[in-house]
Amino acid sequence: MQILNTVSDLRAVVKAWRKAGDTIAFVPTMGNLHAGHIDLVNKAKASADRVVVSIFVNPTQFGVGEDFLTYPRTEQADQEQLLGVGTDALFLPAVTDIFSSDAATAITVSGISERYCGAFRPGHFSGVATVVCKLFNIVQPDKALFGLKDFQQLTVIKTMVRDLNIPVDIIPVETVREDSGLALSSRNGYLSVAEKQVAPELNRVLRVAKDAILAGQLSIAEIEQQALATLEKFGFKSDYFSVCRSQDLTAATLEDKEIVILAAAKLGKTRLIDNIYFSKGV
Ligand code: PAF
Repeated sequence: MQILNTVSDLRAVVKAWRKAGDTIAFVPTMGNLHAGHIDLVNKAKASADRVVVSIFVNPTQFGVGEDFLTYPRTEQADQEQLLGVGTDALFLPAVTDIFSSDAATAITVSGISERYCGAFRPGHFSGVATVVCKLFNIVQPDKALFGLKDFQQLTVIKTMVRDLNIPVDIIPVETVREDSGLALSSRNGYLSVAEKQVAPELNRVLRVAKDAILAGQLSIAEIEQQALATLEKFGFKSDYFSVCRSQDLTAATLEDKEIVILAAAKLGKTRLIDNIYFSKGV
C-alpha cells in the first residue's frame, strides 16, 4: 500500500494507474476505521482495479463546540487494517494540503443541507460537500463508495454530483451493525458501558416506526411522536425523528412508497444517527 501525503504525490500515482488502463474506486473517510469502513473498502476492491482510501478529519464539517479536536485519530491501526484488505493507496493529507488559508470557495447544496442534521449542525453539509468535491478532483475516481448510515450525507453528495456533472458514480453501501442493531460509527467509542446497552434502542424504535407505517393505522405525525416519546423514556435527547421520501428527503405522506426514516439523538454527550429505508407495497 502506498501512503501519499500530498496532492501531487497522489495525483502522480493515479496518473500512472490511468495510463495502465486501471479503473479506480475511492473510499473517503475520517479514519478511526471500523468494520463498516472495511466493508466499503472490500466492496471498492470488488468493483475496480485500484482502491484509494483517504483519511482526513475535515475541520470544515465540524461546528463550534463539536468534537473536531477530540475526534478519534488512530492512524497506525487504520493503516494496518487498510493494508490487511489490500488497499492500493492511502491518501493522508495535512489540513494545509487541502485547505489553503485564503480559500474562497465552498459548495452549498441548498434545501437538503438545511434540514434534519443540517438544522442542528449549521454549515456541516457545506463542509462535507466541499471536501468531497475537492477529494473527487484530487483522486478523480470512477466511483466512490459511501455508507447508507449517513443517508442525508449520501443524498447531499448525490445531489452535488448530479448538479455539478461530476463524473463519479456514487455507490451506496448498506450500514454495518452490531448484533444488537447498533449502527457502527466512530462516535460509538464515546459511549459509556451503560449507554452502549441503551444505544441499540435507536434502531429498534426505527424498526417499530417502519412496522407502524406499513400497518397504516396511525398518522405519520403520531408515529413520529410515539418514537420521540419512546426514545426520551430511554434517556435519549432527540434532535429529530422524521419520516421522509427517500428520493429527496422531503416529509413523507402515507401515500408515498419509497420511505426513509431519519433519526438523530444524543445519549449523554454522544450524538447518534441512524435510519431505516424501505418500499411500501413491494
Ligand atoms: O462520512 C465521513 O466520514 C465524512 O463525512 C466524509 C465523507 C469522509 C467527508 O469528510
